[in-house]
Amino acid sequence: MKDGLLQDKIGVIFGLANDQSIAFGCVKIAALAGARLIVTCQDVKSEPYAKAALATLPTGNMPKLLVCDVQDPAATEAVFQTIATEYGRLDFLIHCIAYAPAPDLHGRVIDCSREGFLLAMDVSCHSFIRLGRLAEPLMGGGGSILTMSYYGGEKVIPDYNVMGPVKAALDAVMRELASELGDKNIRVNVIAPGPIPTRAAKGLANFSDMAQAVVEKSPQHRLVTIEEVGQLAAFLASDQARAITGTVTQLDAGYHIMA
Ligand SMILES: NC(=O)c1ccc[n+]([C@@H]2O[C@H](COP(=O)([O-])OP(=O)(O)OC[C@H]3O[C@@H](n4cnc5c(N)ncnc54)[C@H](O)[C@@H]3O)[C@@H](O)[C@H]2O)c1
Repeated sequence: MKDGLLQDKIGVIFGLANDQSIAFGCVKIAALAGARLIVTCQDVKSEPYAKAALATLPTGNMPKLLVCDVQDPAATEAVFQTIATEYGRLDFLIHCIAYAPAPDLHGRVIDCSREGFLLAMDVSCHSFIRLGRLAEPLMGGGGSILTMSYYGGEKVIPDYNVMGPVKAALDAVMRELASELGDKNIRVNVIAPGPIPTRAAKGLANFSDMAQAVVEKSPQHRLVTIEEVGQLAAFLASDQARAITGTVTQLDAGYHIMA
């Protein structure tokens, strides 16, 4: 597409596991909108699945795939070094990464271990700070930074457990970064999608009950799709959203308004 919403913008999208990932919805729509993309997957184990997902994209604007575990500082810095060397700047960054160890994720918050809590917080929240810090010098012309949160950071959602406080912290971090980077015209926002059956979501106990509740109670009586997340991400990354920063957008078929 010529003159797409993100025509010739340089974007990096972290957290592609497979073709069901929210990251893949963002990749698909941003590529269609004309962005030049760098995409990361966590490790060599996930690389073939990430590659297979990217292979389904129309050729011509193929993203560059890099392996990056955000707990590895050298690998993380290497991504931004590649962007600096090959593209010279960065226009948008989308963080689609979360993790909590199963025993902590499946138990009560009051029982969660110190190690599990810190690991979940490091991978799912502090990594967003680290990526933002590395993106800042490449966003001299302004930019857009996005992350994926969930309504369970605002309200108690059964079985979301330790990820509730982690997403609450992520939302708060987003607001702090938005305030700190506003002078540089770097906007920072959160998208909070409703339940989508991805690999990470299937790690929650009773994910299907969570999804069923949304289908029953939401005004639109349906789940959202990874492509719909991608469309909102593309808008927030684009110049059309130039005055939007510091916001959490619930993308959940209206579920969050229901008592
Ligand atoms: N699926 C949902 O229902 C839903 C709803 C709201 C928010 N989210 C959020 O969306 C984001 C993307 O998740 P998803 O649902 O697409 O699942 P997913 O499993 O497709 O993606 C999660 C990604 O995090 C990556 N990851 C975990 N630890 C990592 C590490 N140390 N270094 C680098 N990458 C690491 C995984 O490899 C994977 O690519 C997460 O933040 C998740 O909490 C998901």
